[in-house]
Amino acid sequence: MQRKPFLKWAGGKYRILDKILKELPTATRFVEPFAGSCAVYLNIQAASALICDINSDLIHLYQHIQQHGENFIKYCQHFFTPENNTKERYYELRDEFNASISSEKRGALLLYLNRHSFNGLVRYNSKGGFNVPFGKYKSPYFPLKELHDFYEKTKEIETTFFCCDFRTVFSELRKGDVVYCDPPYVPLSETASFTSYAGNIFRERDQKDLAEFSQAAWSKGIPVILSNHDTSETRLLYADAEVKLFNVQRFISCNGDNRGAAAELLAIYR
Ligand SMILES: C[S@@+](CC[C@H](N)C(=O)[O-])C[C@H]1O[C@@H](n2cnc3c(N)ncnc32)[C@H](O)[C@@H]1O
Repeated sequence: MQRKPFLKWAGGKYRILDKILKELPTATRFVEPFAGSCAVYLNIQAASALICDINSDLIHLYQHIQQHGENFIKYCQHFFTPENNTKERYYELRDEFNASISSEKRGALLLYLNRHSFNGLVRYNSKGGFNVPFGKYKSPYFPLKELHDFYEKTKEIETTFFCCDFRTVFSELRKGDVVYCDPPYVPLSETASFTSYAGNIFRERDQKDLAEFSQAAWSKGIPVILSNHDTSETRLLYADAEVKLFNVQRFISCNGDNRGAAAELLAIYR
C-alpha cells in the first residue's frame, strides 16, 4: 500500500510512483534534492534519507512533524475550521503567514494555505510572499492519516531534512547513495513556466548544472535518476543517460497553462 503525501504539490509524483520506484536501485541512503511533497521518499526503502528542497517553509514543516509529531499535527489541525474557510479569513491568514518569522507558524500555515488556496497551489512572488488566491473549497480536507504516515516514515528510516540549493546536496553525496531528482521542469513554451515554488526561478543554467552534477555523481558510482518533460532540450541535456518515456495526465501542472497530457522523461544515470 503506497503512502500518499499530505500536501498537494505541482509536479507531485504520487500518480507515477511505480514507474519511478522500479528504476531506483537499492540505496543505503536515499537522497532527494527536490523533495516537494515527498511522494517518492514516503515510498522508498533505505537505511537513511537526505531530503532537501529550497523552500524553507516546506522543510520547516517536515522538521516540525519529525520533532514534535502529534502535538504539531494538532497545532496544524486547529487552523482547519469552518470559520477559517472564508475568503476574508484566508487572506488574513495568508497575511499572517507572510508576516510571521516563526518557522512553526509558517509551517502549519503552509499546510492550511495548501488546502485552502486556488488549485492547492503553493507559489511565492519574487519578494518571497505567498500569493495564491482563495480556493473556495466546500470543506477542505485535513490530511490526518497522511500526516501520521509521514511521521511514521521519519521514525522508520533515519531522515535528515535540509533546506538548500541542489548544488549543495550534490556536494554532500557519498558511495551507497541513490539520488532521485525532480526539478522544476523545462518550460514547454516561452510563456508556459511554473517557476516559483519558493520565490526562486529555475533557469536554463540550473538545468545544465543539474545535468552536469548528475553525470559527475554517476562517474563516481552514485546512481542518479531525473524526471523532466521530454523535449529536444532535455534529450540534449541528458544525452549520456538511459532515457525512458511515458505519458502523464497532470492535475496540478508544472506549467500553469498546460494541463493536458505531457510526455514525461526519466533520465537514468546508473
Ligand atoms: C517538481 S517539484 C518536486 C515534486 C516532488 N517530486 C513531489 O512528488 O511532490 C520541484 C521542487 O524543487 C524545489 N526547487 C526549486 N528550485 C530548487 C533549487 N534550486 N534547489 C533545490 N530545490 C529547488 C521546489 O521548491 C519544488 O518543491
